[in-house]
Amino acid sequence: MSALMDGVVRVERTGRQSIGGVAEFDGHVKLRPPGERYFGCGERTAGLEKTGTRQVFWNVDPPMGHTASFNNLYTSIPFVLCLHEGRAHGVFYDHPGRVELDLAKADPERVTVEAADELEVSVILGPTPADVLRRYTALTGRTPMPPLWALGNQQSRWSYMDAEELLSVAREFRAREIPCDVLYLDIDHMDGFRVFTWDRERFPDPAGLTARLRSEGFRVVVITDPGVKVDPSYALYEEGRSRGFFCLTRDGEEYQNVVWPGLCAFPDFLNPAVREWWGASHAGLVDAGVAGVWCDMNEPAMFVPWHSTMPDDAVHPGGGRPRLHAEVHNAYGSLMAEAARGGLARLRPDARPFVISRAGYAGLQQHALQWTGDNSSWWEHLWMSMPQLQNLGLSGIAWAGVDVGGFFDDCDGELLARWTEFGIFQPFCRNHSAMDTARQEPWAFGEPWESVCRDMLRLRMQLLPYLYTAFEACHRTGAPILRPLLFSYPDDPVTYTADDQFMVGDALLVAPITRPGIEHRHVYLPAGVWAQWWTGERVEGPAHVLAHAPLGQPAIYARCNTPIPLWPALQHTGEVPDSLTWRVFLGPSSGSGPLYEDAGDGYGPGCSRTAHVERVGDNLVRFSLSARSGSFVPPRRETFVEFVGADLLAVERVRLEETGESLVIERVVTTDD
Ligand code: GLC
Repeated sequence: MSALMDGVVRVERTGRQSIGGVAEFDGHVKLRPPGERYFGCGERTAGLEKTGTRQVFWNVDPPMGHTASFNNLYTSIPFVLCLHEGRAHGVFYDHPGRVELDLAKADPERVTVEAADELEVSVILGPTPADVLRRYTALTGRTPMPPLWALGNQQSRWSYMDAEELLSVAREFRAREIPCDVLYLDIDHMDGFRVFTWDRERFPDPAGLTARLRSEGFRVVVITDPGVKVDPSYALYEEGRSRGFFCLTRDGEEYQNVVWPGLCAFPDFLNPAVREWWGASHAGLVDAGVAGVWCDMNEPAMFVPWHSTMPDDAVHPGGGRPRLHAEVHNAYGSLMAEAARGGLARLRPDARPFVISRAGYAGLQQHALQWTGDNSSWWEHLWMSMPQLQNLGLSGIAWAGVDVGGFFDDCDGELLARWTEFGIFQPFCRNHSAMDTARQEPWAFGEPWESVCRDMLRLRMQLLPYLYTAFEACHRTGAPILRPLLFSYPDDPVTYTADDQFMVGDALLVAPITRPGIEHRHVYLPAGVWAQWWTGERVEGPAHVLAHAPLGQPAIYARCNTPIPLWPALQHTGEVPDSLTWRVFLGPSSGSGPLYEDAGDGYGPGCSRTAHVERVGDNLVRFSLSARSGSFVPPRRETFVEFVGADLLAVERVRLEETGESLVIERVVTTDD
């Protein structure tokens, strides 16, 4: 047993050992105390709790789509959060090849691991889930601060086929006053699917297109795939081939397989020189004003045989000693994302890189956000999105999102509206759909669905200061943004199975509707006093309640007396908010809420403030705002405090003279407030 870093202890391969007084191991076998329960495990299809299951860690483009019976998807994070009597620790089984964990399924007293190769097992000490996540992300890497625009609404489709189509989508957003910050170009923007190229007939002037969209407040993100078309007249291929940058067969030939462009070669991302080269290859996209890249098919996924990957015995020749693909398979996606991020950072040093990845390994969060690939426009998949994102958040990947509306199959108005009610709380909020499916832009199904989508996306824009603050906390501490209740309430075992509801930051609890035709659902509210977002009605937890959530009013509960910073509903993040409102749902206890602000991009200073609400006796509430710490000065704006009483009719809006110094206001309340 040896300490890797503060609070992280390596487990020896042999002998009995007690680690940190919280975990017993016999070699790499973890001995399970009665009642210990397991969570995390990265991107999964099933629910939140993993006790009594077998988990496979091997990146795939799943042949049957996302199903509960096939539990490994595009990323693998062999990390388990263990909870025992309210205390947490984590176990990280570090190996980028195939890993299988038996979490007390075969034997209720043991957690066993199988790996194709040597692996390192580390215990990450708690005692709270937040402590575990802080230490786990100190070990594997933290989520970088995203540019503010990346928190805005994003719209994609496989594919917007030409410049005119993209412009018309942009026009619709603005004409219909539906907020949107980012538009996507899928594979059809390329010349014969050759990565880093443009189809010049359909996109004759990429720089002109992005500049025009930029002037209307839109960024453009394009897809990149690792498969490089085998074509001697294609400079990227020729350069990669001549420099020995592609993976090989065991006989030393270039390894080739079919993806979108036809026969492709696959960069050996293990080699730092290849990552450098790949990163530099983004220059044309950056010159064309592209704001970020979306790394797809990087399991890597291949078409022969259908839904396969590189064979186990393919060789990664560079980067030190040659490695068999089987040894490093799960790392391929992370390494591609690392290459992209590095390239964007070097090419545009003043901007925070924006990289999406489908595949990856533990630590992917340092390089990219993760979107969860090809779900379907099914109610079941809307439900599944909740545990999926909570599992990722508990495994270090806080910046994540599923395709809002679902990718495969046809969406419909009600499903899109309900999915958008959920999607606005995803750290990454993007609507995306597959070729030959029903169009699913927010207006695609007419009214009343369009208005619901608009209202929800406007609410997301209002919540931006709150979300951005949660991102900053995540960046510093690894705390998930969309998180399970058990993250904050590990002492309350009812939260362990509450996988169809979640917290966003510390103050909001959200319980989406995930069935058609209904507008009521069960919600569990843990200890504390909560206010229903739309009515102000107060509920004291712990309590099981039946929430009424008609269309456009998803079940959202705010922690009382915890101030929530809101902006006006901007159309895009390029607009400057002219006000900041602290909304306080009044309640009996005291609370506080932070606000972090900076320029929204780049690496300049930020500033933080904390608002406190204190109940002083029965009839007085004291709201105080700490002095600004940090040298960033937000643009001039009006500041308000909005006190919401036990019903929304009792809202009182107070204007504050904001100076950046600390200030206190007091308000007389009735005992009902
Ligand atoms: C993959 C991606 C999907 C994309 C499609 C075409 O299926 O997961 O999002 O639209 O490829 O590029």
